[in-house]
Amino acid sequence: MKRLKVMTVFGTRPEAIKMAPLALELSSRPELEAVCCVTAQHREMLDSVLDIFGLKPDYDLNVMEPRQTLSTIAAKCLNGMDGVLEQARPDLVLVHGDTSTTFAGALAAFYHKIPVGHVEAGLRTYDKWSPYPEEINRKLVGAIADLHFCPTVANRDNLARENITKGVFLTGNTVIDALQTTIVKDFAFRSDILNDLDYVNRQVILITCHRRENYGQPMVNIMTALRRVADAFPEAELVYPVHLSPVVQEAAHKYLDNHPRIHLTSPLDVREMHNLMARCHLVMTDSGGLQEEAPALGKPVLVLRKETERPEAVAAGTVRLAGVEEEVIFQMASRLLSDRAEYDKMAHAANPYGDGHACRRIADAIIWHFGRRETPPEEFGNIPL
Ligand code: UD1
Ligand code: UDP
Repeated sequence: MKRLKVMTVFGTRPEAIKMAPLALELSSRPELEAVCCVTAQHREMLDSVLDIFGLKPDYDLNVMEPRQTLSTIAAKCLNGMDGVLEQARPDLVLVHGDTSTTFAGALAAFYHKIPVGHVEAGLRTYDKWSPYPEEINRKLVGAIADLHFCPTVANRDNLARENITKGVFLTGNTVIDALQTTIVKDFAFRSDILNDLDYVNRQVILITCHRRENYGQPMVNIMTALRRVADAFPEAELVYPVHLSPVVQEAAHKYLDNHPRIHLTSPLDVREMHNLMARCHLVMTDSGGLQEEAPALGKPVLVLRKETERPEAVAAGTVRLAGVEEEVIFQMASRLLSDRAEYDKMAHAANPYGDGHACRRIADAIIWHFGRRETPPEEFGNIPL
C-alpha cells in the first residue's frame, strides 16, 4: 500500500523545537512518508534547532527579513507554500501552534484542499489582542484544521466550546518529548559565563522576553524591574539570552547593559537553554514554551504578561502571573528571592503538559485517521506518568 505523505510545516524557533521530535517520529513509521517544509520565518534561531535534532528540511522558503511585518511574513509564506504543495502533494499538512507561519501554512493547505492537522491545538486567552497576533492565528487554524492535537483537557474543552469535537485527540505537548532528549547531568555550555556561574550558592534567574504585545512601555517596565531586582539582591545573577529581534535587542541593551550581575547573551541553542533551566533558581519570562518546560523541571516561573493561555501550571502552583507593571514584577520577584517558604511552595515538579509520548500519539492518531490502524491512541493522562 502507498505510504501516506505527511508534511510538517514550521518556521520559528519554538515551532521547530516542538515539531522536530514529531518529524523524527513520523520518519520512523513504515506507513508514512515524512516530508518537512520550513518557512524560515526565523533564520539563525531555526537553523540552530534543525542542527541539534539533525533535521534536514526538504523545502526551505527562506522568508525572513529584518524587522519583518506580520503581513510580509504571511504573504511570503502563502506564496512560497503554493509551489511546495503543488510539487509535493502531501496527504496531510501538519502545522504547529499560533505563529504567522502556522496560519499561512494552514491557509495554503486549505486553498489546495489538503487536510490540515493542528499540533498544540485549543490554547486560548479569549483576548483578541493578547497574545497578539497569536490568539487569532490559532483560532483561524482551529477553523481550518481537520485534526486537532490538544496538549491538555482544558485545551480540548476550549475547542468543544467552539463546537470543534471531531478529529480531536488529547496527546500532551511535544515540548516535553523534546525536553526528555536534551538534559544532561554534566552539561558543558559554550560560554564561560554560564560554565562559571555558581548555581548552588547564587540565585540564578533565567530571563526571556520577546512578545510583540510587550513592545514599547511594557518592555520598558519589565527591563526596569529586572534591573531593580539585580540591584536589590546581591546574590542574584540574571541571565538573559536576548532574542534576535532588533526591537528586543535595543530594549534589552538600553536598560540592562553595564551591570556586573546581569548577563545578556546571544540566543542559546535548545540544549543549552534546557540545561540552564534545569540548573537555575527562578525563571522570569513572557515565552509560551518556557511556561511549559520550567514546571516540568521544578522551577518557579513568573510570567511577564497580563494573561496566559497555559493556566494548568498556574493551577499546579509552579507558575504565577506577574503582569507588565514594574512595581508588581519587582515585588513578586523580591518575595520569591527573600522568602524561602514562599519559594518552596512553587518549586516542585509538575507535568500538566505532557509525559514525553505526545509524538507517538500524534503519529498513531494520523495512521488511525487514515484507516491504516485499528485503534486510536490512548489519551494523555490515562497512563501513569
Ligand atoms: C515569532 C512569533 C511568536 C513566537 C516567536 C518565538 C509570529 C507573529 N510571532 O515572533 O508567536 O513567540 O516568533 O520566538 O509569528 N530575527 C533574526 N533572526 C532569527 C529570528 C528573528 O534576525 O533567527 C529577527 C528579524 O529581524 C525578524 C525579527 O527578529 O524580523 C522578528 O521575528 P518575527 O518572527 O517576525 O517575530 P518574533 O517576535 O520572533
Ligand atoms: N529557547 C532557546 N534558546 C533561547 C530562548 C529560548 O532554545 O535562547 C527555547 C525555549 O527553551 C523554548 C522555546 O525556545 O523551547 C521558546 O521559544 P520562544 O520563547 O522564542 O517562543 P514562544 O514559546 O514564546 O512562542
